[in-house]
Amino acid sequence: MTTSKRSYHITTFGCQMNKADSERMAGVLEDMGFEFAADPNQADLILYNTCTIRDNAEQKVYSYLGRQAKRKHEKPDLTLIVAGCVAQQEGEALLRRVPELDLVMGPQHANRLKDLLQQVFDGNQVVATEAVHIMEDITKPRRDSSVSAWVNVIYGCNERCTYCVVPNVRGVEQSRTPEAIRAEIEELGRQGYKEITLLGQNIDAYGRDLPGTTPEGRHLHTFTDLLYFVHDVPGIERIRFATSHPRYFTERLIRACAELPKICKHFHIPFQSGDNEVLKRMARGYTHEKYRRIIETIRTYMPDAAISADAIVGFPGETEAQFENTLKLVEDIGFDILNTAAYSPRPGTPAALWEEQISEEVKSDRLQRLNHLVAIKAAERSQRYLGRIEQVLVEEQNPKDGNQVMGRTDGNRLTFFQGDINELKGQIVNVKITEVRAFSLTGELIPVAQSVARLKVG
Ligand code: SAH
Ligand code: SF4
Ligand code: F3S
Repeated sequence: MTTSKRSYHITTFGCQMNKADSERMAGVLEDMGFEFAADPNQADLILYNTCTIRDNAEQKVYSYLGRQAKRKHEKPDLTLIVAGCVAQQEGEALLRRVPELDLVMGPQHANRLKDLLQQVFDGNQVVATEAVHIMEDITKPRRDSSVSAWVNVIYGCNERCTYCVVPNVRGVEQSRTPEAIRAEIEELGRQGYKEITLLGQNIDAYGRDLPGTTPEGRHLHTFTDLLYFVHDVPGIERIRFATSHPRYFTERLIRACAELPKICKHFHIPFQSGDNEVLKRMARGYTHEKYRRIIETIRTYMPDAAISADAIVGFPGETEAQFENTLKLVEDIGFDILNTAAYSPRPGTPAALWEEQISEEVKSDRLQRLNHLVAIKAAERSQRYLGRIEQVLVEEQNPKDGNQVMGRTDGNRLTFFQGDINELKGQIVNVKITEVRAFSLTGELIPVAQSVARLKVG
């Protein structure tokens, strides 16, 4: 009999949802008595929380997994788990590919980890990928940050963008109730968190699966209502959210963001392509004109708002002229940040079967040209910060310089300045911006009376 604690290590791939799920699963494991091991090669339990959005994300998992499967031959009591989107997509097939696996579990099963592990410890090889109703979480996540926290508001996605695996792997939309969401945020406020990010693959869909309609026949709960419902939680000073879908983005939401002081003036609204024909074949449900109107409206209400987005190049059939429409949109809008990707055909999605696939050479050429423009535009956008005083929420020490701390502006620009993390962590301070780069800023702390007073109580 051994009395020493077993240890675990989680490696997370993919989006913020996966990061949030990993924190919940780490919470479950710690609740079961597992201890965090920084070195995966020392851990008794390894969990890969996986992503399959593009082929390279999926392949990364197999190479990691191969190494741990080998280690299991020397250490038979090693527990090996694949969770997340590859698990959901591959299911049983993963066991055939890697027979050393103990547990394959889809994203909808994240908070069932304890039950599933019990079955593993009873000697079973377990696959949990059936669609389920996601139960309200009773476990406590082990959050990576003590300043900023993720809060899921809606799971799954009911859209059918023709390139995307997410609906296949995350299932149908399931909104949490406003009460459950608020209760989680209140608890975060009590624990000293300053910032929350509300999460959903299509956050504008929030509430459409919840019961109830207004006398006018609208859904009783919308994302805008949710913002009004949670914005005053004590202790929470900043509220962010992602991801917005142009098809459902409303002026009412924009007004709410302008009106509610805690909502950060940063919007992440992927457009995917600047060409109407491509957008149609992606089944996105909007035109580039509509997208431009949304951004204009945001900038009318909040002239300084930061705008970020995602875009795909080389979607099947995309012509040079259609790609240039994407460049044009990027040129005209001037994004603060744009995440770009070459189209990757995904199993089980319509576009993967289309004949007019674009060659890797053309895709990577377009990606390079787009990225070049993105960096130029981001650098231009950064210029507006020069000399300004920005409010920065301090998150961590700068890992590359122990004399500096880092945090984010309201518009989500990463900002560095001289300071002591022990004094500043979790504080919102005024920083004069003295240096700007495309994707980050450097500044000097302004010791105004108010922030000095705050430091002393903090
Ligand atoms: N729900 C979000 C996006 C989720 S996936 C939305 O609707 O915008 C994150 C990003 O990955 C997408 O915005 C898209 O730009 C990219 N992506 C998704 N599927 C892809 C694929 N098959 N190939 C390349 N990029 C893809
Ligand atoms: Fe994928 Fe479209 Fe759903 Fe976003 S909205 S997750 S791109 S299907
Ligand atoms: Fe990847 Fe799944 Fe997120 S496929 S992007 S981890 S929803």
